[in-house]
Amino acid sequence: MTAFELTRQLPADHFADALRSDVLSGLTARPKWLPPKWFYDQRGSELFEEITRLPEYYPTRAERAILTERAGTIAAATSARTLVELGSGSSEKTRLLLDALRSLGTLETYVPVDVSESALREAGHQLAADYPELAVHGVVSDFTASLALPRAVRGPKLVAFLGGTLGNLLPAERAAFLTALRSELAPGDSLLLGTDLVKDPAVLVAAYDDAAGVTAEFNKNVLNVLDRELDAGFEPDAFEHVALWDPEQEWIEMRLRSTRAQQVKIPALDLVVRFAEGEELRTEVSAKFRRERVERELTAAGFALAHWWTDPEGRFGLSLAHPVA
Ligand code: SAH
Ligand code: AVI
Repeated sequence: MTAFELTRQLPADHFADALRSDVLSGLTARPKWLPPKWFYDQRGSELFEEITRLPEYYPTRAERAILTERAGTIAAATSARTLVELGSGSSEKTRLLLDALRSLGTLETYVPVDVSESALREAGHQLAADYPELAVHGVVSDFTASLALPRAVRGPKLVAFLGGTLGNLLPAERAAFLTALRSELAPGDSLLLGTDLVKDPAVLVAAYDDAAGVTAEFNKNVLNVLDRELDAGFEPDAFEHVALWDPEQEWIEMRLRSTRAQQVKIPALDLVVRFAEGEELRTEVSAKFRRERVERELTAAGFALAHWWTDPEGRFGLSLAHPVA
């Protein structure tokens, strides 16, 4: 008997309203921008999984290496009854944590939370089949809008936020997110946070501009989402993928550059968006961290850093933190 339950946490029209509002504010701003959460429709989630297997995209392999080594320590340090994962995607690396917590014998429930319903369903059914003793309760939600968890969640909780997804939030968003997350945690709960680290810009840029063009397709996929959901008239081929390193902010920025002067109609918003030739639309930041910054941001939000681990090459950081009373 396999148990997979899916809950939609936000009101039915939340995502449609949020997309319209983000597109209206982002595409009428200067410079133009869009939040990265809109990449992840079914195709976007599939493309992200392809990215994780690219030779240039080291973060997934580096984080997996840390988890392989440390999952037993993490399980013992947290004794989690519930594992909540924010931005869980395929939950592939999470299996290392599930295995370790299963060996310890404490885990009852896994709660993957994601905007991508297709990713949640696919991962959830497979996990429920592979871990029959576990209740798998998927939640379709936006962790920047709500962090409320299903009522039945029992502590101690371990909240995992892996992959470096924290870096896709802007600094002020990160502070608000971490503070909101802290307020959801009780004494004895833990946060496991994956952060990609500052390194040679050539390595970073290659990870976001791969030779096979998968990241370019992922980046342009946001235009397909707007075309489908808002009946917009974007032609993805009229834009080119840009990935650059900003040394002051210490983040990678992905942009879409208009290859010509063009006007794009978005009838659902009664909007016409004009692009000059060469004009760029920012679609994502991916901040890279140093240990000090991770510790500073965690401390500011009311967490104490208990462990800091990296892979042998020092490419990726994994932090285990606890809420301060
Ligand atoms: N944790 C996985 C997936 C990372 S990709 C890994 O480490 O490989 C980022 C994931 O976060 C995607 O599955 C995406 O759908 C989800 N996501 C992005 N923004 C989100 C948001 N605001 N709320 C909830 N999920 C989000
Ligand atoms: C999900 N997130 C951590 C990825 C990253 O590396 O910032 C998304 C991504 N964007 C381009 N490639 C991967």
